[in-house]
Amino acid sequence: MFLPNCVFYSDCIEGLSREKFRGQISLIFADPPYNVSGKTLANIFEHGAWEKINATWDQKTPQEYEEFTRKWLSAAYGVLQDGGTLFVSTSYHNAFVIGYLAQQLDFVMRGDVIWYKRTAVPNVTRKTYRHSSEILLWLTKGAGAKYTFNYEVAKLFNSGKQLRNVWDILKVGQKESVAHPAQKPEELLLRVIAIHSNPGDIVCDPFAGSGTTLKVAKILGRHYLGFEINEREFQDMISTRLQETCFTVDRVQAFFESHATELSGTR
Ligand SMILES: C[S@@+](CC[C@H](N)C(=O)[O-])C[C@H]1O[C@@H](n2cnc3c(N)ncnc32)[C@H](O)[C@@H]1O
Repeated sequence: MFLPNCVFYSDCIEGLSREKFRGQISLIFADPPYNVSGKTLANIFEHGAWEKINATWDQKTPQEYEEFTRKWLSAAYGVLQDGGTLFVSTSYHNAFVIGYLAQQLDFVMRGDVIWYKRTAVPNVTRKTYRHSSEILLWLTKGAGAKYTFNYEVAKLFNSGKQLRNVWDILKVGQKESVAHPAQKPEELLLRVIAIHSNPGDIVCDPFAGSGTTLKVAKILGRHYLGFEINEREFQDMISTRLQETCFTVDRVQAFFESHATELSGTR
């Protein structure tokens, strides 16, 4: 058994292929590059609200992207336990390619979650919709294997009623924001990790970015394993966020306070 709670500043495909990680992980939250970089008007028209991202790690040809996706999905499959969960955060650009390739690898598609972004920026071109959603693909390893879905915990996010698969979560606010162009809200990870893993499980993020998944996993009493290829840009950011002991989001803090009993042992 390897010692978790570490971040490797390296390529996740290489990292996840190490023998010591095989079959160890309960939950992977993957937020791979969306491949939508570029700040031209044409790009904004084509790609909508993703114009903020303009990074070298986000520029591949369709063929390169497919090959890259096949490789990281295969590595992810190898490190998951039977019944382990893979959540992939993506958008309409790549959701179908990722879903198709994942199912070829024998992942089971359990469903999707739509993250509804009510505070999404308007589309300045007036030639398309105001993009206000992102897609989370929910996959598990092994058709017959038991997977984690904490139904009662899910209800906590909807005042005790069955939780829908459309999640109305505000974009990262000023208080929470760090200098990463693709940072995900802590509340999104709070839901995924609390519902799809248990205290003591190992949660992995192969594309750690600013460290949102790792931070939330730590706060929820899970072990974490992260990979991030851009050490120079994001190492300090991740280290700092991992030292933060509480959420900057008031709603999340309030959630913990009001559900301390149900979530006992998860902090
Ligand atoms: C969409 S961002 C993830 C953002 C993250 N979810 C957050 O909340 O900050 C993707 C990240 O993957 C990193 N990345 C790209 N290719 C990678 C690879 N092959 N291995 C590891 N990290 C990679 C990029 O540097 C970038 O920080």
